[in-house]
Amino acid sequence: MSSHQRLPRSPARRRLLQGLTGACALALARASRPDDAHADLVCGNAGSTQPLPQPGASGFLGRIRLDATPLVLRAGAAPPGSGVGALAYQAARKGTFLNPTLVVRKGDPFRVVLDNALDQATIVHWHGFAVDTRNDGGGSVLAAPGERYDYAFDVRNRGGLYWYHPHPHGSSARQLHDGLYGLIDVEDDDTDALRRALDLTPGSTELMLVLRDQDPARRYASSVAQSVHGFYGDALRVNGVACAHADVGTRLYRLRILNACNARTLLLGLRTASGERIAFQVIGNDGGLLPAPAVCAAAFLASAERLDILVDLRDAAIGDTLVLETRAFDPMHAELALPAAAAADEPDPHAGHHAGGTAATSGAPPPATSAADPHAAHGGAWPEGAARDILQLRVRTRVAYDRTVPAQLSTLAPTDVTGAEERPLRLGYKSGRWRINDRVFVMGETPIEVARDTTEIWLLRNYFTSMPHAMHLHGFPFEVLERETSPDQVKSRAIDRQGRLPSDLGRKDTVLVWPGESVRVAVRFDMPFAGAQTYPFHCHNLEHEDAGMMLGVKVA
Ligand code: C2O
Ligand code: CU
Ligand code: CU
Repeated sequence: MSSHQRLPRSPARRRLLQGLTGACALALARASRPDDAHADLVCGNAGSTQPLPQPGASGFLGRIRLDATPLVLRAGAAPPGSGVGALAYQAARKGTFLNPTLVVRKGDPFRVVLDNALDQATIVHWHGFAVDTRNDGGGSVLAAPGERYDYAFDVRNRGGLYWYHPHPHGSSARQLHDGLYGLIDVEDDDTDALRRALDLTPGSTELMLVLRDQDPARRYASSVAQSVHGFYGDALRVNGVACAHADVGTRLYRLRILNACNARTLLLGLRTASGERIAFQVIGNDGGLLPAPAVCAAAFLASAERLDILVDLRDAAIGDTLVLETRAFDPMHAELALPAAAAADEPDPHAGHHAGGTAATSGAPPPATSAADPHAAHGGAWPEGAARDILQLRVRTRVAYDRTVPAQLSTLAPTDVTGAEERPLRLGYKSGRWRINDRVFVMGETPIEVARDTTEIWLLRNYFTSMPHAMHLHGFPFEVLERETSPDQVKSRAIDRQGRLPSDLGRKDTVLVWPGESVRVAVRFDMPFAGAQTYPFHCHNLEHEDAGMMLGVKVA
């Protein structure tokens, strides 16, 4: 059965979105009481927190509006005492900047010169951007120490939050961990309209939140176990600050959130100081604004994913505190349950409901540093899936605010999948490596070949004896069509018959695929570039990417 026959046609989808819009036009419903203890919070009380830094006119994360003059972005050692990390991107333009937030309008020129002042090769990738191979910075070409690399293209992406980070194969995890990353704020007519409708001001009522679990005082240390499971730091920082707070008023706030952890997945939610859980509205994600807001009780956010949400403080009282938290969930590192010497002929765990495919589980991953503690490789001090506070929103001022959330945020037609070929892509572990379709990345090889201007459905299947993988495609946004055989903690949060989560709507460039799950995404391979282009498709657990859980894609 071809999958497009099973998907509802656009009228059904439109009804669904209208239903959600109706539900969230009013004040948000209060969600259920918490059932897990917040025993291991790093900071809960006033006094121990620091003000949330925001992108300003200069400095760390400062906003630089790009224009026709190329911006020189220098990758090198961070200035001593900056607290950003050992490494940073620096730029100068009416002030000096560390890891600047690049602001650009859809359709406008993007001119950046990477200046490599590191002692190793690097390249910058503009995560989520629809560009040609030359401008993608996917790792096929690197800038050697002392070299420069020019980027020049016109921005084709929808308005939204994108980001940039190093992409030299084998060293991406290290360079990002050590401090090289930044945001890109793409503006378009829809994002302008949203700011006008809700009276949003970047830096005060529209807050950027970069979530990382890397300790800026430490350098990256690699290990075999870490390369299999991923790097998990011991505390969460937002814009470089652990235990952050922001003083807010009684109105709507927009939070634009990036998970810039190397490997850690989060389950984001809001609660009051007394522990009451509060729903929020998802208005956008990786690929910009959704067509309409969607009510959400809590959202998974994997490495590289973005979430654009509205928090409603209109009914709050002065003195109230709302806490953005990551909640407890099962991290499902099911690969740890593999027998130490899994048989090469282990049956395909999907054989019961999927035809084809071979077992990808022969040869178990190495255990954590201590075999007795399977969680040690997933954050000894802070295991993946354990709850933590991220940010306190402290209600300090009563403000007059009469705006309401627009029922329509953007126009986005469902991807036309008529006649689209389905391409199966299996995610699994075999012979000591994470693999896609049993293969490990080889630079220059493109096992996936796609005809330009066609649409494909990619069927991403993860084995039961696996771990979650955040799959990212360069160059082309995709639409999540369907989740099948999802674990309960995902299925229970689905909002439609296709098993999708509120954060799956709209357009994505990274999608988390859980053990045992199959996710169908539709990719439109539209491109205006002459000649064949190649792009990587990889897991955004950066340790997995560096270890070769990546394939080349050729579009010709
Ligand atoms: Cu965010 Cu290939 O990367
Ligand atoms: Cu693992
Ligand atoms: Cu992975």
